[in-house]
Amino acid sequence: AVTAPTAEAAVTEFWDGLVVGASLATLDGDAGYGAIEDGALGWRDGRIAFVGRRRDLPGDPERLADLVVEADGGWITPGLVDCHTHLVFAGDRAGEFEQRLQGASYEEIARSGGGIVSTVRATREAGEDALLAQSLPRARALLADGATTLEIKSGYGLDLDGERKMLRVARRIGQSLGVDVRTTFLGAHALPPEYTGRADDYIAQACNWLATLHAEGLVDAVDAFAERIGFTIAQTRRVFEVARALGLPVKLHADQLSDGDGAALVAGFGGLSADHVEHTSPEGVRAMARAGTVAVLLPGAFHVLRETTLPPLAEFRAQGVPMAVATDCNPGTSPLLSLRQAMQLACTHFRLTPEEALRGATVNAARALGLDDRGALRTGLRADFVHWNIARPAELCYWLGGPLARAVYAGGHRLS
Ligand code: NIG
Ligand code: FE
Repeated sequence: AVTAPTAEAAVTEFWDGLVVGASLATLDGDAGYGAIEDGALGWRDGRIAFVGRRRDLPGDPERLADLVVEADGGWITPGLVDCHTHLVFAGDRAGEFEQRLQGASYEEIARSGGGIVSTVRATREAGEDALLAQSLPRARALLADGATTLEIKSGYGLDLDGERKMLRVARRIGQSLGVDVRTTFLGAHALPPEYTGRADDYIAQACNWLATLHAEGLVDAVDAFAERIGFTIAQTRRVFEVARALGLPVKLHADQLSDGDGAALVAGFGGLSADHVEHTSPEGVRAMARAGTVAVLLPGAFHVLRETTLPPLAEFRAQGVPMAVATDCNPGTSPLLSLRQAMQLACTHFRLTPEEALRGATVNAARALGLDDRGALRTGLRADFVHWNIARPAELCYWLGGPLARAVYAGGHRLS
């Protein structure tokens, strides 16, 4: 005789793994940590299947899942989302770091042929495998401190082959480490030397490369550097119009060193995010609020460049602009290899609360990438989560460095 399966047996069939005995910061809902003490988190096929109190589990944990992990304390948060990195590059710029300590500014170094363009030289020279080998350890470091989704930009090739090479390496990083990598085309990052005095011609070429690389499946979003040492608003607009025609979302390095109306421009295109935004005007903030554009705070660059102008945090809060936090991992302004450290810097320099910083590196960062399937612990979302050796969530933003992540899972698979 065929009997109907019990509820417990049905569940057993469906769970691949279950962690019990940690507190959960679910970030479910609009405010607070969404804390659950003595929690349980189950998943199946890479998605969260149960999140709640251990005592509310529908049966004996040993029979509920193929794998049951006794967490023995600590906290579980959603996997961190690093929504702004330039981690694919060759060489380093430690020499410029020393020059800046002697008093040279980032802009002066850029204008005298260093800065981004010096990383372009090194990146063009590197073969694809060498570029991957140099970049992988940086991605691994971000993962080891809790990141489970990485955004990676091009922008150190500045010709078709170089940009393609960078984006291919970004995709290969995701494949080899088992995490989701979102690629961003940043051809309008700096003017390469062969185009000196011909920035408009360069932008026209970069727009062609964008279309080509998108057709090759290498581009998820489009970014630009609108700045005195980058590109004008009119040039940025041309790139965004091509992105719109291709159906690609846009974001922008906006108002980092000066107020160039960048935030209003990207908001006008319904952009995912305006990043840096230290010098954004109140009108820019209002435009972002209207468009739902996320403010991506990059306290690593602020810290390294010893900036003093804070982003308009009070206006962001008053207007309800979501704030994300990212590493901006890059060789010039933010050689930062931990998103948790970026959260620490966001609290120290920008006075974000630890809760804002955690939301900034999870749910709001996911939104800055246009992803609604991660960033919180909720049934149906990706099983991306981190088990931390901490007694309370604020510790994530409190320790400077140190190994806090006990286990990192992406799509239900343990990374470390
Ligand atoms: O986000 N501002 C432009 N882009 C990077 C810096 C890149 C570099 O200096 O290599 C940034 O800070
Ligand atoms: Fe950047």
